[in-house]
Amino acid sequence: MNHDGKKESLENENLEIRMLLEAIHQKYGYNFKDYANAHTKRRLRHRLNISNMKNYAQMMHRVIYDETFFNNLLLDLSINVTEMFRDPGFYKKIRQEIIPLLKTYAFIKVWHAGCSAGQEVYSMSILLEEEKIKHRSQIYATDFNELILEKAKNGIYPLEVMKTYTGNYQQSGGKKDFSDYYTADYHNVILRQSLKEKVLFSSHNLVTDGVFGEMNLILCRNVLIYFNRQLQNRVLKLFHDSLCPGGYLCLGSKESLKFTDMEDRFEPIAGQEKIYRKKR
Ligand SMILES: C[S@@+](CC[C@H](N)C(=O)[O-])C[C@H]1O[C@@H](n2cnc3c(N)ncnc32)[C@H](O)[C@@H]1O
Repeated sequence: MNHDGKKESLENENLEIRMLLEAIHQKYGYNFKDYANAHTKRRLRHRLNISNMKNYAQMMHRVIYDETFFNNLLLDLSINVTEMFRDPGFYKKIRQEIIPLLKTYAFIKVWHAGCSAGQEVYSMSILLEEEKIKHRSQIYATDFNELILEKAKNGIYPLEVMKTYTGNYQQSGGKKDFSDYYTADYHNVILRQSLKEKVLFSSHNLVTDGVFGEMNLILCRNVLIYFNRQLQNRVLKLFHDSLCPGGYLCLGSKESLKFTDMEDRFEPIAGQEKIYRKKR
């Protein structure tokens, strides 16, 4: 194929991918349209090859009519980017403003919804430990991607990300030396076993599965961003029903309750950090 031919075939492929992502958004509410990047393309190509389809137009047809196929594709596409103490200012706020209130409770239940490979969960475990309330806490950590949940349970991360995690921890008001929390070999760090105590990992799909009872704190950060308004409303209702009165809901930095059905049922506690409290 000459240069022009190659260019045209690439453009056609991109067009088909955009149409496929549009179909997914319209039919199921998941929005990957802003992620029509190299990662998405690689995952779609992989699925195309193993499914013996000729092109994305065929895949689009299959997505529309075959929900099981869509669910597998969804796992391929789901974006798992995460960090320990991601957005350090958020963790600082939790430490300074939410923990003192949680300390007044006899027992504390925390739910990480869409926990990815567990970094957010272990960050919370460290925080609760340092604030001396972990012994009376229970952390539930869920994701719909079984493979990523396995990684979360292992708590083993590449050595090269530790610099970022350490910086985040320090900025978030961490009280110790971050290296107290792991052992390292040449390539990886293994988080201390004690950080896994009080953590229960389980599979849970926010769109199709039910409530978790009487939570004091729910973190669902950088997940709703991929859902359309209808799905967001459904998931936010689930969080509302899962929280005890006065419980806290934390969203990602680009997410908000504004213009959702739940806007009036929560009061904003920290606007910038996206921390909300369920009204009594
Ligand atoms: C970008 S990561 C966010 C991880 C972490 N909360 C953070 O903010 O660093 C999004 C996670 O949401 C999960 N997810 C997406 N849709 C989901 C759904 N319907 N039910 C449960 N988890 C979902 C993905 O598998 C992924 O691990």
